[in-house]
Amino acid sequence: MATIGNSELDIHPLALGGNTLGWTADETSSFEILDAFMAAGGNFVDTADSYSAFAPGNSGGESETILGNWKAARGIGSEMMVATKVAHHPDFRGLAPENVAAAADASLKRLQSDHIDLYFAHSDDPETPLDETVAAFDALVRSGKVRYVGLSNYSPARVAEWLAIADEGGYARPVSLQPHYNLVHRAEYEQEYAPLVAEHDLGVLPYYGLAAGFLTGKYRTSEDLDAGVRGRMASQYFSEAGLAVIDALAEIATAHAVEIPTVALSWLSRRPGIVAPIASASRIEQLPALLDSTRLVLTDLETDRLTSLSNAVEA
Ligand SMILES: NC(=O)c1ccc[n+]([C@@H]2O[C@H](COP(=O)([O-])OP(=O)(O)OC[C@H]3O[C@@H](n4cnc5c(N)ncnc54)[C@H](OP(=O)(O)O)[C@@H]3O)[C@@H](O)[C@H]2O)c1
Repeated sequence: MATIGNSELDIHPLALGGNTLGWTADETSSFEILDAFMAAGGNFVDTADSYSAFAPGNSGGESETILGNWKAARGIGSEMMVATKVAHHPDFRGLAPENVAAAADASLKRLQSDHIDLYFAHSDDPETPLDETVAAFDALVRSGKVRYVGLSNYSPARVAEWLAIADEGGYARPVSLQPHYNLVHRAEYEQEYAPLVAEHDLGVLPYYGLAAGFLTGKYRTSEDLDAGVRGRMASQYFSEAGLAVIDALAEIATAHAVEIPTVALSWLSRRPGIVAPIASASRIEQLPALLDSTRLVLTDLETDRLTSLSNAVEA
């Protein structure tokens, strides 16, 4: 278990990504995945009010609705913590104060809960003065609807600005950062955000822990990318240097008798400042490989080999 920043959120070292719920996993499969995750000790799911408006036929809120239905059906309360996000739902775009308040109420209704454990600003809203957004999140914390605040996809300068406004105004301080960070996308986080994280004790929950599936090793050729709904997302990581990382992951996985994604997540979860990677499964069969990462400890040699190969990816 690891604590998110200076919060009281003590979480399992794998956070379950919720964007598959109601997208690539229907409600029955989603319940299976959630049941298995919880049975293995999982206690933290990351979702967003907008998931999965991007999927044909969906309008947003499907993931939260399934999560709420699952918690209600199983009689589960605070033992499964939920992080959700605001700014991208088609009906609640941006971070104007009245929108944040209304979006939070809509999320709570779908989640069938009276509180959100960690509420992320999904991305910056340059149209709204930041002090108004900071105050809106603070009001949610004061009302008890939100326990803690987190930031995702903000530039480092805007993270620093949010923190300064919070400190000056006595507002709730963000405890968590949710950046895009994995074995084939490192430079942005490590160079630009890591210093801020250390300075402000932010708990890091990296998203795309498996590079949208690329780090599972199932996209080895451009034809592979054409199959499946995530191929387009995974294609951003497709390169010779990226495939060299996959080859090394495969060798290390064989040596430990585990699967490729297990090794990728183990590497990520042991990087400085990381509380828990966020990774999703679209089928219950995919989950054990993700959970195994919490137990796999790589040798220094293996870690260094992966780190060094991944240095070449963005070089
Ligand atoms: N803050 C943000 O802006 C932001 C952005 C993106 C994501 N997120 C969060 O991060 C979470 C994780 O991101 P993600 O779900 O997009 O990508 P990911 O975790 O990097 O990749 C997960 C995908 O990899 C495949 N996979 C997983 N385990 C596998 C296995 N054992 N064998 C083979 N394939 C496997 C599945 O895709 P297939 O269905 O194709 O098999 C799965 O949906 C999301 O659910 C969401 O909560 C946040």
